[in-house]
Amino acid sequence: MTATQSIQPVLRSDYRPPTYWIENVELEFDLDPRETLVTARIAVRRNSQQPSDTLDLAGENLKLQSVAIDGKRLDGDQYQLRDDGMTLLNLPESCQIETKVLVSPLTNKSLSGLYQTSGNYCTQCEAVGFRRITYFLDRPDVMTTYRVTIRGDKKTCPVMLSNGNRIAAKDLDDGRHEVVWEDPFPKPSYLFALVAGNLKCHRGTFTTRSGRDVALEIWVEPQNIDKCEHALVSLQKSMKWDEDVFGLEYDLDIYMIVAVNDFNMGAMENKGLNVFNSKYVLALPDTATDEDYMLIEAVIAHEYFHNWTGNRVTCRDWFQLTLKEGLTVFRDQQFTADQTSAAVKRIDDVSGLRAGQFVEDSGPMAHPIRPESYISMDNFYTATVYRKGAEIIRMYHTILGAEGFRRGMDLYFQRHDNSAVTCDDFRAAMADANNINFDRFDRWYSQAGTPELTVTESWDAAKSEYALTMTQSYPTLPGGNPGTEDRNPVPLPVRVGLLDAESGEEIEQHSGVVMLDTETETFTFSGLSAKPIASVLRGFSAPVRLRMQRDNEELAFLMANDNDPFNRWDAGQTLATKLLIDAANGLADGRALELSEQFRDAFGRVLSDNSFDEAFKALALTLPRESVLGQEMDVIDPDSLHTARQFYRRRLAECFQSELTSLYNELAADGAYKNDQKSINRRRLKNVVLAYLSVLDVPACISRVSNQFHQADNMTDKQAALSLLANLDVPERDAALAAFYDQYKTDPLVIDKWYAVQALSSRPDTIEHVKQLTSHPDFSVDNPNRVRSLIGAFTQNQVRFHQADGAGYKLLADYVLEIESANPQLAARLVAAFNSYRRFDESRQTQMQDELKRIAEHPGLCKDVHEIVQRALH
Ligand code: ARG
Ligand code: ZN
Repeated sequence: MTATQSIQPVLRSDYRPPTYWIENVELEFDLDPRETLVTARIAVRRNSQQPSDTLDLAGENLKLQSVAIDGKRLDGDQYQLRDDGMTLLNLPESCQIETKVLVSPLTNKSLSGLYQTSGNYCTQCEAVGFRRITYFLDRPDVMTTYRVTIRGDKKTCPVMLSNGNRIAAKDLDDGRHEVVWEDPFPKPSYLFALVAGNLKCHRGTFTTRSGRDVALEIWVEPQNIDKCEHALVSLQKSMKWDEDVFGLEYDLDIYMIVAVNDFNMGAMENKGLNVFNSKYVLALPDTATDEDYMLIEAVIAHEYFHNWTGNRVTCRDWFQLTLKEGLTVFRDQQFTADQTSAAVKRIDDVSGLRAGQFVEDSGPMAHPIRPESYISMDNFYTATVYRKGAEIIRMYHTILGAEGFRRGMDLYFQRHDNSAVTCDDFRAAMADANNINFDRFDRWYSQAGTPELTVTESWDAAKSEYALTMTQSYPTLPGGNPGTEDRNPVPLPVRVGLLDAESGEEIEQHSGVVMLDTETETFTFSGLSAKPIASVLRGFSAPVRLRMQRDNEELAFLMANDNDPFNRWDAGQTLATKLLIDAANGLADGRALELSEQFRDAFGRVLSDNSFDEAFKALALTLPRESVLGQEMDVIDPDSLHTARQFYRRRLAECFQSELTSLYNELAADGAYKNDQKSINRRRLKNVVLAYLSVLDVPACISRVSNQFHQADNMTDKQAALSLLANLDVPERDAALAAFYDQYKTDPLVIDKWYAVQALSSRPDTIEHVKQLTSHPDFSVDNPNRVRSLIGAFTQNQVRFHQADGAGYKLLADYVLEIESANPQLAARLVAAFNSYRRFDESRQTQMQDELKRIAEHPGLCKDVHEIVQRALH
């Protein structure tokens, strides 16, 4: 493949149906670390809609041994072979194509296709990994049934798994054995999976509502067999929830999950055989935090929900990725909200959206949730496709209500079961099931950027009328990428409530959702005895940046009175943001830092308010992250932001030292670890309180953190204390890090935490530590979790990654270049940390740009990194 060939973008508008369909496929694997022989027999039939006797099969990194059509071996001049596939000419109406290829799982470090991880075989095919296993129509609109024969060594591969049902097994000569799997459901190649190795199984069962008994199997390396129960229970809960809420039942007799250590992403929903990053399976209280437990439950649910939204109904082409991902993220968010607290879950999700997706959507990678073009599809598994995509689905839900949304889902499955469809098909099902016009909703799929919603108010005392004027607009985006120009107003459901300014009571008749369908509109509320206080965009009912001039009193009022918990929290965040940005800007002008009294009082009220649950209180007491604050500055100044935020934290801790101390003592008296929601919430609050106390330069405060670290009977408390100590320059820090390493050195997932707390430290010498850690014996570039826990975490450390001398930038660029050829997907993820460079001062901009150029000029740069870097430099 020449360089220019590989960097041609794929365009959404270029979609053509295939020239042939595949009626079924038989695969045979003769497993071997360096020379696995893959035999594929594909029965094809010409697509009458696309009359052509030419068939292009995708294939990459394959050593072709032979090709035969209907049993007759082809000579080299009867097909065309390229680096990215082969073309077969003059094919009959229907025939069987047999190919034999060799692949090398041991040396496959890209973790795409068939590879080895901890000595076991595993596959990852989404989006385009199947073509690294065999020549195929590797595109999601080609769905077919699979029969898979696996032959492997009995000692090293006692367990051999694939999709569907195990239909035969037998022993072979020379210590090998064979297993045959058959999946009755037609599926696209990206859902194929194979796993083989030395694994142990944690079993459970689930009986579906129509009485089908499903065997649940969680396969892990033998040493992890005691860490699977939480994943199993999460799976059972997910299966039940999807029946209860969406009427969706599981459709095979077996559901398998395999945990692997080396994985580029979170998990993969292969039909009947999910493959998971072990991080999202394994948990014991001593090794996993409450957050890990929650994430495991959410990711298990997410992959399970894909069985309907993704597998039974899949995507026609990869531009439609949000069809399955946005929808499935929405479903897993609703599931978690039902298991825990809807308000807290919503706040967590919106914080994540603002910290990640908003940044992406304002930089060089800004793209519509349905992108228009890509060079590497792997670069488009983004916060935009997933999280913003989920927000778009949530808006249908807000507009239609739960029942209307369910009607739309029912119609979607009725129309499209067992097929590969588009976002337009989903939108049509929602519209038709509810007799509603969703034509304008199309704009949410074709436009990039975060809309701004500007709201102004007016009060007419004579008419007793209050009015809100809402105007939407798009900010300009760099780069001239598709979807960033000529944007039109989008339909915005804005949930509004009015509060009596005296009593703080809700004025019930005026609460609800207004639809802003045009650029600007005024909504009038009449019959009011006095000017109310409006709560706007409740529950974050649309993915926009809200711009509403509020004075501090009003924000404090909403913090105290809004009965929409999201907005109650958000009012506090808005107030804190205003003050912190002002303080940071003031620093540059030589103004002294000062804690706002208004904020101090509001903070004190939250601290003493016992009407909140502890998790909500923990959120309400937490200041906005530095990366979220940075977005509100004209030019991000990481140092003054950090200084201002640290100053606030310390002043708040000083002002409320006694309240915080007694709250900590009360929460710390909870006794032995318990795993119920109340205990989880209390730990969350306890650790937020501890974080405030930790910034006081008082020996008692430092020993409190250190004591919590050494006495903790669970990872949540231990990790929280360790990450606070990691920020300090005290002997207790090194002692704790050493003790932690020593205790957990054989557990890679826990050692990842050890790397991450150091990479996230706010200490000025963090970058030196990160450099040292890259040569620590446990650091490995082959393990994505490890790379993310050190390098990835470091890039999230705004104040240290953006160190003025550019040392952080150099470190990242060096790393990207070190790993890009072995693992392009991972390298491309990391390099995206440079995408916000235009938001910084001249000097930082130039330094980041120089690193980007250095990467761009690297000879033979992989196309994944190339795509990110060239968009950034554009
Ligand atoms: N479908 C998987 C999930 O969302 C993720 C696959 C990601 N693939 C990739 N190439 N990044 O659960
Ligand atoms: Zn997914």
